[in-house]
Amino acid sequence: MKFSKVLVLVLALLTISMLVACAPTAAPTTAPVATSAPADTPMPTVEAKKTYADMTLCYPQLGAESDWRTANSASIKETAEKLGIKQLIFSDAQQKQENQISAMRACIQQGVDVIALPPVVEDGWDAVLTEAQNAGIPVIIVDRSVSADPSLYASHIGSDMALEGERAAAEFNKQFPDGASILELSGTTGSGAAEGRARGFRAKINANIDILDSQTGNFTRAEALPVMQAFLNKYEAGTDFQGIFIHNDDMGIGAIEALKSAGVQPGDLFIVSVDGTRGGFQAMIDGWFQADVECNPLLGPQVFEMALALMNGEPIDREILTNETVYYPDNAEELLPSRQY
Ligand code: AHR
Repeated sequence: MKFSKVLVLVLALLTISMLVACAPTAAPTTAPVATSAPADTPMPTVEAKKTYADMTLCYPQLGAESDWRTANSASIKETAEKLGIKQLIFSDAQQKQENQISAMRACIQQGVDVIALPPVVEDGWDAVLTEAQNAGIPVIIVDRSVSADPSLYASHIGSDMALEGERAAAEFNKQFPDGASILELSGTTGSGAAEGRARGFRAKINANIDILDSQTGNFTRAEALPVMQAFLNKYEAGTDFQGIFIHNDDMGIGAIEALKSAGVQPGDLFIVSVDGTRGGFQAMIDGWFQADVECNPLLGPQVFEMALALMNGEPIDREILTNETVYYPDNAEELLPSRQY
């Protein structure tokens, strides 16, 4: 190689190494660290979404008067456990409104996240609902309704009790197109369930079907039995009355005891009950009930889902009515094993 060529090569190499040395440094491979805002700039607060693990829910159950109620309590407790909520405050008011109100006040005092109230009667909730509202605790009315202004509670989840009464009336209309006299064994006086069923029943029963007498059995077997006995002392089964509308299966089972003692046979009277419990299904299989209007107690999943939505300020439905049906003796035996309550 000639000296001039060697010189050109050396100069070229020198130039390249100088250019490399002066080049800007490579971009960092990690994301840039955010610069902190000046002290006087308020940072936007993004609240983390609440989960079931954050939830304390108060359920002042109205009592343990029926198989329906037992299934409702179990649904609430089992769902709370399954979802892993922080705390379920469950109490039994023994069918006394004052006990439910005291339980609610204790929950308000404790600062629970949500109260889910199955009210024993419709009236008399305004004061305690206002207290819950003032404390910022949303209340979901469960099962039976209240007469309070809807602005005092978040939502109602439960059955359409008037529709249940209408469905029962349709059964009597079908059975007695030429008219009949019937008795009514009603639920707890003043309760949304009893008032709604009675209202719906009267709205749809044919004019030629006479409601001869109506008495409450307070939704229990024990109280229904003497009421039915008193009816049988006053009226002759089959002659004075041909059917009975009974507001729940437990009262129906109490009434059957009285009917059996009086020598009435299954099928002598047309009996329609409400609930669709296993006991009601058995009464259909045994020939005592000719129809059982469903009232579904398994409300736990809907209650907790709505409670979580309320805790997160999400939109909710103001009323969720349960989808229900009517059961008949023809397939009662087949369905009984799959009944959950
Ligand atoms: O509110 C629902 C009613 O209450 C059910 O029909 C009855 O069985 C229960 O006691």
